[in-house]
Amino acid sequence: MPLDVPAIRAEFPIFKRKVNGHRLVFLDSAASAQKPQAVIDAMTRIYTHSYANVHRGLYTLAEEATEAYEGARAKVARFINAADVREVINVRNATEGINLVAYAWGREHIQAGDRIVITELEHHANLVPWQQLAKRQGAELAYIPVTEEGLLDLDAVPPLLDDGRTKLVACSVMSNVLGTLPPVTEVAEMAHASGAIVVMDGAQAVPHQSIDVQTLGADFMAFSGHKMCGPGVGVLWGRRELLTSMPPFLYGGDMILTVKQQDAKWNELPYKFEAGTPPIAEVVGLGAAVDFLTDIGMDAIHAHEQDIVAYAMERLAEIPDLDILGPGPAERGGVISFWMGAAHPHDIAAILDSEGVCVRAGHHCAQPLHDRFCIPASARASFYIYNDKDDVDVLVEALDKVVRILGRR
Ligand code: ALA
Repeated sequence: MPLDVPAIRAEFPIFKRKVNGHRLVFLDSAASAQKPQAVIDAMTRIYTHSYANVHRGLYTLAEEATEAYEGARAKVARFINAADVREVINVRNATEGINLVAYAWGREHIQAGDRIVITELEHHANLVPWQQLAKRQGAELAYIPVTEEGLLDLDAVPPLLDDGRTKLVACSVMSNVLGTLPPVTEVAEMAHASGAIVVMDGAQAVPHQSIDVQTLGADFMAFSGHKMCGPGVGVLWGRRELLTSMPPFLYGGDMILTVKQQDAKWNELPYKFEAGTPPIAEVVGLGAAVDFLTDIGMDAIHAHEQDIVAYAMERLAEIPDLDILGPGPAERGGVISFWMGAAHPHDIAAILDSEGVCVRAGHHCAQPLHDRFCIPASARASFYIYNDKDDVDVLVEALDKVVRILGRR
């Protein structure tokens, strides 16, 4: 069933406002998505009706808050088909989830002479933690190259794995710049065959397509709530055996079972990795976002975005001097990054903003990927459930204005 975009848009209060006198055309969901009333209401409800700290109080409010918090965890577990709700760890964002693995698993298991393999299409969240871990441990950091078309060069993978030195492979399920949907399950099979574990960055994928962590091939996957219509909170999913065997990442309250003056014992999963008071209302809000997206249907969302991207690529081809990074529509999700001859992406974004169109401009937290394509920056339009082909038409008209103002190369 195609999405009923006007009905979906009506659920988001922000679309009532105008920007610079124009209808808001929000094409920056890859950076952060807008919030539906259902998520705002869920957070307001917990603050106005059931707020207290979780896992600590023995009174009604504390029990209600704990139930709402743990209920949201269960929703997230179902959403990604985790085998066990204890495999879902609430963190601050996808970045923190990946850092958790780099610290807690990485410092124990990556030794001097080992190799960490990532890809050239990673954004900084799935790059810098591995780069710094490799430096600290004296390990090698190697990259699976990206082809000119923006696809992973799979022929380059076996030589990176064959000598058995690779202990960890980290790969994004969808590139935030190229939109590429790499064959992550194939990469994971190769990595596992060589004895490496696999960390997947689901920040751009989980909000946009149906993800089943039991069949995807990951050992860990991190994603952010704020990119899936939820608030600022993130999730790390990990295989239970791995999480159980890992030391904690952060120390403090709630992650302990007992504490003595000179020693402490750790709580069970998932609490071992949730030190201190968690982001209670945010997790509850994420649960509401999961309900909201599930009601629309993840397969329908993915099909909708693929349809818009195909249309957008066709329309953007009409703009003189506009080059699109990355593969054709069949191999990408709802993201299109482009550059336009002499026009700086910041100027493009400013002119689009004057027409009510929000795009991101810069390196999109992926500097090495831009280096790979020998450009310092790009402009990026990203699509979600509240965008339709009319939004693409507005973008194309606004880009005509860019060409009129800034000229051709
Ligand atoms: N990584 C986020 C983006 O792509 C912030 O914009």
